Amino acid sequence: MNPIEKLHDLERRAELGGGEDRLRKQVEQGKLTARERIELLFDPGTFEEVDKLVTHRCTDFGMADDVIPGDGVVTGHGRVNGRVVYAFAQDFTVFGGSLSETNAAKIAKTMDMAMRNGAPIIGLNDSGGARIQEGVVSLAGYADIFLRNTLASGVVPQISAVLGPCAGGAVYSPAITDFIIMVKRTSYMFVTGPEVIKTVTHEDVTKEDLGGAMSHNERSGVAHFAVEDDNECITLIRELLSLMPSNNLDDPPRVDTQDPVDRADEALDALIPPSPNQPYDILDLIHAIADDGYFLEVHEHYAKNIVVGFARLGGRPVGIVANQPAHLAGTLDINASVKGARFVRFCDAFNIPLITFEDVPGFLPGTVQEYGGIIRHGAKLLYAFAEATVPKVTVITRKAYGGAYCVMASKHIRTDFNYAWPSAEIAVMGSEGAVNVLYKREIEKAADPAAMRSTKVAEFREKFANPYVAAGRGYIDEVILPRDTRRKLILALGTLEHKRDTNPPKKHGNIPL
Ligand code: HXC
Repeated sequence: MNPIEKLHDLERRAELGGGEDRLRKQVEQGKLTARERIELLFDPGTFEEVDKLVTHRCTDFGMADDVIPGDGVVTGHGRVNGRVVYAFAQDFTVFGGSLSETNAAKIAKTMDMAMRNGAPIIGLNDSGGARIQEGVVSLAGYADIFLRNTLASGVVPQISAVLGPCAGGAVYSPAITDFIIMVKRTSYMFVTGPEVIKTVTHEDVTKEDLGGAMSHNERSGVAHFAVEDDNECITLIRELLSLMPSNNLDDPPRVDTQDPVDRADEALDALIPPSPNQPYDILDLIHAIADDGYFLEVHEHYAKNIVVGFARLGGRPVGIVANQPAHLAGTLDINASVKGARFVRFCDAFNIPLITFEDVPGFLPGTVQEYGGIIRHGAKLLYAFAEATVPKVTVITRKAYGGAYCVMASKHIRTDFNYAWPSAEIAVMGSEGAVNVLYKREIEKAADPAAMRSTKVAEFREKFANPYVAAGRGYIDEVILPRDTRRKLILALGTLEHKRDTNPPKKHGNIPL
């Protein structure tokens, strides 16, 4: 074999991964191969592979005779929508995509290059975990990756796709990254699998129920997106990347929009129902104000009482955080607080302005919430909004009660523009609750307690259930017509384009984890 033939031969072996039979099995399961995933992820013809010829060093268990160039992970860089992105794709056909010393080193090298060059890192996970034949050197490889995930956090965006197994300590690399996408039916994540659970706790649970895409999207909140197949997953990664900058020193990419910046929407004037206890769908507002109605919801299936996600306003990506009156009346509970806080911190880390839509009757009452630590978890959302220095604009559509008023990007925690609709109700608590506290004795003694209660409730509503006390203090900058919301938001963002705000110098804060 001449030198050029030898190179071609090595490359062919690398590209064949674990061989045709295993590749066929992968496809039969409805999965794409590692190389197909990489090809789809990058703009056509832009992917450059690195370390294609790396091999493992293990000699135990007959491994010396079982060497495949590339060693089970495809690594490299290319362009996504024209911008540089680094990625690794675990190849399940090579020793189950398991992590060896050398393939961990490939991943770590990819991450180091991405960090040095200020480019996002995409992890396409499909692996049986630590390479059993290698023992502790494989565990060391995981730790090397975890360290880099941590150091990259807030510096370059990190997105993890789970496209097959991801079990044991391996879950902690995706867990540190910014977004996790899981494919329904073919992916699962758990720290200990069904067999171990059965032995230890005697629980019977299937792999899917324990760690499938919907379990982690609906119940645990570990995953942010659930998709139908690998194709949809890769398309979503590209879409997500289009909404974020390449690193924390860049601004998110703008696009041209044909949607007029001053587009008024009269339907919004009638969005708030006549009764304060009637729900409405906050997504109707988000779609109405966003460029072309586009909204990419994050954590769609988890803690539906708060909505978070990305939109564009005047071509500029924004992060939207909105109470959802259609679920749990939009109250803040533990899960909603954590969901909101995490999203706010992502946006703040990557210079994505925050738009907050507020209609919140307060924190969810009850022993479940109190024993679960709503104080600590609610504080996360408060902390996240307060520390955020990106442009912040809030619109109160209806209720802004109690502590939740302060938390939801109020003027007092450095929000740049605070708007309210005429339907806003800004008070320490709802009228019914307030009257029960303030007029308890009078109502008990009254000849007609029910009549007295409703008179007092009406009086209280008249006095406080409006935005004008807050506007009189300057806590609300302007009471705006609902139909003008889009125009007002885009104007506000325009004036905040060069905003510079900082936090006091410190090693890091101590967010109440
Ligand atoms: C080496 C592995 C492997 C591993 C799978 N293979 N996992 N080789 N190390 N961890 C190999 C298999 O031997 C097999 O080789 C091929 O990959 C495909 O595996 P199958 O079992 O045939 O596939 P499937 O039936 O789809 O089952 C997938 C699986 C199962 C559920 C992932 O392989 C499995 O349970 N693997 C072990 C998982 C595990 O316990 N890993 C360690 C977890 S602890 P052939 O040659 O037959 O094709 C861990 C700690 C991380 O990861 C700690 C980080 C801090």
